[in-house]
Amino acid sequence: MPSDKDAPLDTAAATEICEAFKPATSDDLIPILQKIQDAYGYLPAEIIAEVSRRTGLQVSQMYGVATFYEQFHLERQGRYTIKCCRGTACHVKGGRDIINAIKRELKVEPGETTGDMRFTFETVACLGTCFLAPVVMVENDYYGHVTTKSIKSILSRYT
Ligand code: FES
Repeated sequence: MPSDKDAPLDTAAATEICEAFKPATSDDLIPILQKIQDAYGYLPAEIIAEVSRRTGLQVSQMYGVATFYEQFHLERQGRYTIKCCRGTACHVKGGRDIINAIKRELKVEPGETTGDMRFTFETVACLGTCFLAPVVMVENDYYGHVTTKSIKSILSRYT
């Protein structure tokens, strides 16, 4: 039996997006990609292809923008995004150990999503709260002075 993951995507939102940006120009690339991501949670390849077909925007242009900006995701995302800082301030306070603890706990590498679609794990250059180093962010929640021992309890708050 196919899972939801294998089900064809509903293209109704893509149709609406194409209608809203008619005629589309390269200036519309970012807003179009944002609308697609808002509607689908990421940028599905088949929706990119559909929008390209309907608007005349090149698939390569769309991927060029999508891969340039960190805000865009080409893969389905987990229910929660956990970001671990790999910046200098966090690194000197044991950030590498925190990243490894999260990898061990979730059994994923940075950029990957857990098999149960619960977490997407990312590492970022700086979370802007260096005074809290090492820092982890889950959705909009910041956790400062994190230790390898506290990772399990932080993750358990997100079910
Ligand atoms: S270096 Fe980690 S929050 Fe800035």
